[in-house]
Amino acid sequence: SAPLTILGIETSCDETAASVVLRDADGHGEILGDVVLSQLEEHSVYGGVVPEIAARAHVEALDTLIEEALARAGKTLKDIDAIAATSGPGLIGGLLVGLMTGKAIARSAGKPLYAVNHLEGHALTARLTDGLAFPYLMLLVSGGHTQLILVRGVGEYERWGTTIDDALGEAFDKTAKLLGLPYPGGPAVERAARSGNPDRFVFPRPLVGEARLDFSFSGLKTAVRQAAQSIEPVTEQDIADICASFQKAISRTLKDRIGRGLQRFKTEFSDLSCEPALVVAGGVAANQALRTTLQSLCDANGFRFIAPPLQLCTDNAAMIAWAGAERMAAGLPSDDLAVAPRSRWP
Ligand code: KG4
Ligand code: ZN
Repeated sequence: SAPLTILGIETSCDETAASVVLRDADGHGEILGDVVLSQLEEHSVYGGVVPEIAARAHVEALDTLIEEALARAGKTLKDIDAIAATSGPGLIGGLLVGLMTGKAIARSAGKPLYAVNHLEGHALTARLTDGLAFPYLMLLVSGGHTQLILVRGVGEYERWGTTIDDALGEAFDKTAKLLGLPYPGGPAVERAARSGNPDRFVFPRPLVGEARLDFSFSGLKTAVRQAAQSIEPVTEQDIADICASFQKAISRTLKDRIGRGLQRFKTEFSDLSCEPALVVAGGVAANQALRTTLQSLCDANGFRFIAPPLQLCTDNAAMIAWAGAERMAAGLPSDDLAVAPRSRWP
């Protein structure tokens, strides 16, 4: 197909982002201009994302960020082939801001609009960064999602496993809160765990041994609370030990759950001509212990392990632009300007 230059917009949570991405005639991707504004500071005093504050911050920043992304790419709206905006899932106020902005630009510039599912953006990122061929497995671990997804092709996704309670990032955040560590909890727990004893506490490994590929993390949080309450007073070393034990339980759980997923993939695609691959995405992919676990699991099962650069694992607009480019290149129809944002969109 012809080369495509796409403007992407992402506003589903607490990152306001705009990006210009090129998909060349051979299907290779290149990020031409990319800007992300994190609202972390606005929300950290509340210990979590406040939807109303997020929506207002998107409104204030988005138009400037779009201009900046275009400027960095050396492009104007005339050079853009389509607009891609996240239309779900996420916080409805933020989605409205991004999608309405995308519609307005599409309408005034006379360009097609792609209303992109945020998860599709994460799912296709490895094709932008590594030119990965279909099919592959993707593990999305963020503050809102924990999913193992089979990516068969553009628009062809099968959810093999999901969390039945908390998301993995949420488990990190809640554990941090219980231990008095700062928000967001993931980096704080990981830091504390470095000087901790992972064998001091044996936390539950939910669903380990079960055939289904789902996850569960809420029991882990309860066990952390009980461990913290059993010690009085709690020292810094106790906190480090709890964090290290918490991460160990997660590593063991993922090893079992994902290991089963890899086996299922090998069975289903026994005649695959290239090496099978597992891709990780989402904010929790920043966690070094998690990366080490997944890498050794992939090594042991003959899988290629792909972790995109961190700024493309967390929320960004390049992945949204790229998803729009992939859909357009695959000949999928653009969206009607009447398309509505969806806070829930599996
Ligand atoms: O993908 P993301 O930036 O935002 C969405 O949830 O969409 O993910 C944020 C999540 C938070 O729960 C945060 O605590 C977690 O990713 N996280 C980490 C680490 N860095 C961020 N979890 C564990 N270890 C980390 N180093
Ligand atoms: Zn995300």
